[in-house]
Amino acid sequence: MNMEVNNRVLNVLFGGFIWLLLSCSSSYGLQSDIDCLKSLKGSLEDPFNYLSSWNFDNATEGFICKFTGIDCWHPDENKVINIRLSGMALKGGFPLGLQNCTALTGLDLSSNKLNGTIPSNISNITQFVTSFDLSSNNFSGGIPKDLANCTYLNIIKLGSNQLTGQIPAELGLLSRIKTFNVANNRLSGPVPRFLNARISADSYANNSGLCGTPLPNCQTT
Ligand SMILES: *[C@@H]1O[C@H](CO)[C@@H](O)[C@H](O)[C@H]1NC(C)=O
Ligand SMILES: *[C@@H]1O[C@H](CO)[C@@H](O)[C@H](O)[C@H]1NC(C)=O
Ligand SMILES: *[C@@H]1O[C@H](CO)[C@@H](O)[C@H](O)[C@H]1NC(C)=O
Ligand SMILES: *[C@@H]1O[C@H](CO)[C@@H](O)[C@H](O)[C@H]1NC(C)=O
Ligand SMILES: *[C@@H]1O[C@H](CO)[C@@H](O)[C@H](O)[C@H]1NC(C)=O
Ligand SMILES: *[C@@H]1O[C@H](CO)[C@@H](O)[C@H](O)[C@H]1NC(C)=O
Ligand SMILES: *[C@@H]1O[C@H](CO)[C@@H](O)[C@H](O)[C@H]1NC(C)=O
Ligand SMILES: *[C@@H]1O[C@H](CO)[C@@H](O)[C@H](O)[C@H]1NC(C)=O
Repeated sequence: MNMEVNNRVLNVLFGGFIWLLLSCSSSYGLQSDIDCLKSLKGSLEDPFNYLSSWNFDNATEGFICKFTGIDCWHPDENKVINIRLSGMALKGGFPLGLQNCTALTGLDLSSNKLNGTIPSNISNITQFVTSFDLSSNNFSGGIPKDLANCTYLNIIKLGSNQLTGQIPAELGLLSRIKTFNVANNRLSGPVPRFLNARISADSYANNSGLCGTPLPNCQTT
């Protein structure tokens, strides 16, 4: 109990530090965030023009903050905190241009038609994200080990894709995880042992052969 409280205090202190770091780093990252969103728009197919408000012609301070699905740290500063592009029928691969949104903490690309693999260097692209939601797309391949290097993650949602292979055990080391959902994929093997989270069996439902608490034990041979 005491340890848990201490842990929470530490988490709050450390979280506050990162918040300060990200929100005060205004000397750089501004042009970078514009490049990020330009690249994002350029790399996605947007058949229903949900991103039509993303117009880069009149670049005043804070103009990207008015774009559909974009939240900034401050409404008058071109520094993106959240990208929320759920349910827009977007097509394409994982947008690598996101690496230029250097202060991003929330990414929601759920319920689109994105495909290809989740990049193996994901921690270099979304280093500070606390919430990572790619659920209900068509991503394939494995869940990259490197996701465990995104140490601020609270929420990982990868459900309803075509992901295969094992879930990297390293993800269990993510100390802030509250939500982890990989239901409806084609994953197999042992599920991670999360240090500080209790993940329910529902979060693992409908895969090819996951095992280990909270699921039935893995067969030892
Ligand atoms: C650019 O945007 C600002 C603020 O929205 C507006 O006041 C200004 O008239 C616009 N300039 C042009 C050339 O569209
Ligand atoms: C990031 O932005 C720089 C310019 O600021 C650009 O040269 C680079 O191609 C961008 N990276 C990606 C992956 O879009
Ligand atoms: C992704 O989907 C596109 C069609 O939208 C297709 O051309 C491409 O081959 C797919 N890529 C992968 C890796 O499945
Ligand atoms: C991540 O890997 C891709 C290739 O998969 C590369 O194009 C990109 O530059 C890498 N990004 C970083 C930040 O290392
Ligand atoms: C990629 O991230 C790792 C830590 O996750 C870091 O050590 C490395 O310097 C980063 N590389 C680049 C090119 O940003
Ligand atoms: C998803 O990708 C798989 C191959 O990985 C393909 O067979 C299937 O048609 C794709 N589904 C959609 C809705 O694009
Ligand atoms: C995580 O970051 C460390 C330190 O930069 C690096 O050595 C390691 O390869 C990364 N882990 C993965 C799985 O990429
Ligand atoms: C598992 O798949 C079944 C059948 O498609 C579906 O009804 C159920 O909601 C799925 N369970 C979860 C937790 O997604």
